[in-house]
Amino acid sequence: NTYVVIMAGGIGSRFWPYSRTNYPKQFHDVLGIGQSMLQTTVQRFAGICPPENLFVVTNRDYEALVKEQLPEFSDNQILLEPVGRNTAPCIAYASYKIAQLNPKANLVVTPADHVVLKQDVFTEVVNDALAAADKDDVLITLGITPSRPDTGFGYIQYIDDEQSKIKKVKTFTEKPNLELAKMFLESGDFVWNSGIFIWNVQSILRAFHQYLPEVSEVFEEGIKTYNTPQEHNFITRAYSHCRNISIDYGIMEKVDNVYVLLADIGWSDLGTWNSLYTINEKDGNGNVIDGNVMLYDTTGCIVKTPKNRLVVLQGMQDFIVAEHDNVLMICRREEEQKVKDFVADAKSRK
Ligand code: GDD
Ligand code: MG
Repeated sequence: NTYVVIMAGGIGSRFWPYSRTNYPKQFHDVLGIGQSMLQTTVQRFAGICPPENLFVVTNRDYEALVKEQLPEFSDNQILLEPVGRNTAPCIAYASYKIAQLNPKANLVVTPADHVVLKQDVFTEVVNDALAAADKDDVLITLGITPSRPDTGFGYIQYIDDEQSKIKKVKTFTEKPNLELAKMFLESGDFVWNSGIFIWNVQSILRAFHQYLPEVSEVFEEGIKTYNTPQEHNFITRAYSHCRNISIDYGIMEKVDNVYVLLADIGWSDLGTWNSLYTINEKDGNGNVIDGNVMLYDTTGCIVKTPKNRLVVLQGMQDFIVAEHDNVLMICRREEEQKVKDFVADAKSRK
């Protein structure tokens, strides 16, 4: 009864200029391991469900990319959105479609751009969560011990019941401001939401009905079209009038049956330049280098540039230097949240 939904429709704008609208980061071999983040994500579920129960949700623009990278996937396993409406509509669409195939389905919903170093532990915790979701009406997320006051994550406070591995969530705060994030971190009482969710399909549909009825109504209307040739046309219409909202703001912050399973899985979200900096090996001066680079008096930088370009840096401290596809960006590491603005401004120049 286990099904996996891989959300792979984001554009990864905080990773610009490496991640681009026409080739977002989940399709890149970000870690230089010979496969894309999407392919790594698929592999992660080998011990969790049969390959035919894996589904990818992405934008229609990336259909060819997905098919190239996942040739073993049938067309029905690739859900194509005409426009991105964030993660709540993505999850609603997949849930209705899978419920139609198997009303008893237990789902794992996962981003396509995470690193999980401890595969064995991952398989074990996901299977534990699936067993719980099969029995009870619970929405489970994997929780990660936080290491910095990152404002890009959801923060979870839970009731510490020593008896049980799966803990009831007291508060869920999506993307707090820096002040709040620092407080959460210092209190020692909070974990990060990994964004990897486990639930029974009926539980999540119930939550949609209650908290995002305007989204669930849109997708419920198409019930008869799912897994038929009419699905494509229905979805085109549905997305044109669907609200844009993430599952975290729309559901996780609001429902009262959220549970967290603390997961020591060697997790990181490769969402930003600094996250890539953190997990990579540094040279003697704390630089992370991927490219043909000469450094002088330079420390704490992350440099990712094309191999055919010789890059010389002198006197730089804590900078991101990134070049990809005709864009060169040089930005202080501590100001990386501005990357999103650069993307918006660059678009409006065209
Ligand atoms: N199909 C589809 N359609 N996928 C999408 C869309 C969409 O419109 N929008 C985003 N995604 C995909 C992204 O590609 C990514 O794999 C995943 O959904 C999560 O979206 P992000 O945009 O990366 O979310 P986030 O990082 O800001 O926040 C989420 O993840 C954090 C942990 O990494 C939240 O769940 C946070 O609470 C969490 O801490
Ligand atoms: Mg993310």
